[in-house]
Amino acid sequence: MKLRDKIAVVTGATGDIGSKICEVFISEGATVIGLEKNDEKFDELSNKFGESIEFFKVDITDSAKLKEVVNEISKKYSKIDILVNNAGITKDNLFLIMSEKEFIDVINVNLIGTFLVTKEVARVMRKQKEGSIINISSVVGIDGNVGQANYSASKAAIIGLTKTLAKELTMKGEKIRVNAIAPGFIESRMTVNIPDNLKNKVLERLCIKRFGRPEDVAKLVLFLASDDSQYITGQVIRIDGGLTL
Ligand SMILES: NC(=O)c1ccc[n+]([C@@H]2O[C@H](COP(=O)([O-])OP(=O)(O)OC[C@H]3O[C@@H](n4cnc5c(N)ncnc54)[C@H](O)[C@@H]3O)[C@@H](O)[C@H]2O)c1
Repeated sequence: MKLRDKIAVVTGATGDIGSKICEVFISEGATVIGLEKNDEKFDELSNKFGESIEFFKVDITDSAKLKEVVNEISKKYSKIDILVNNAGITKDNLFLIMSEKEFIDVINVNLIGTFLVTKEVARVMRKQKEGSIINISSVVGIDGNVGQANYSASKAAIIGLTKTLAKELTMKGEKIRVNAIAPGFIESRMTVNIPDNLKNKVLERLCIKRFGRPEDVAKLVLFLASDDSQYITGQVIRIDGGLTL
């Protein structure tokens, strides 16, 4: 068991990738606290995982509610070992016709939301002097993508945030590691509506001729959350089947 007795906070915990991260963490002995604005799957996942999971219905852009929730978590569990900033949205459009709202909405959830959650949780980690934070970026944050100026800007910014926090949160000798992962095309709600002709083009470019699966991502997140990666910090690890080689 790689996460025995660990307390992990996962945002966007009922999404396709988020719920797989919860499942893999729980199978390795962790207790997971899911922060999620959509409560549709709370009952289903609570029935499946029992006391190993607890959900809080919270929008990660709501700083006041987040403060309350993280206080409650740290009181109840006395610590937070792992944070996975997984919640994210897309609102795709070509740049010249992208509205200010489309741009701001995506930056608000993907970047500001990550900032707000991390700030609350990092305060707890700072007190306990250790922790592992994993931010879900995207290959699009490194390479850009047509129709995703808002999303790629948000995911690129997450990489800068990751590297800065890796430096800042260890300034007093704390063992707080902060890493990002950059998934390529992963089978999920987020990619289900991509037109077939575009999907086929992507498949042609991949070295590994299939789209990624949520469990591929979850296993990498597990590695970064666990002590197996205790000398890795400030990194961005691509998980994309060789998309850009
Ligand atoms: N699917 C892919 O191909 C892919 C590729 C690269 C990166 N990612 C990233 O992986 C993460 C998970 O994506 P997914 O494919 O599982 O998508 P998903 O839509 O299935 O999951 C995202 C989850 O985040 C939640 N969420 C959205 N806004 C929120 C908010 N304001 N507060 C709280 N929760 C909120 C949603 O309710 C949803 O459950 C995202 O950050 C996404 O950008 C996905």
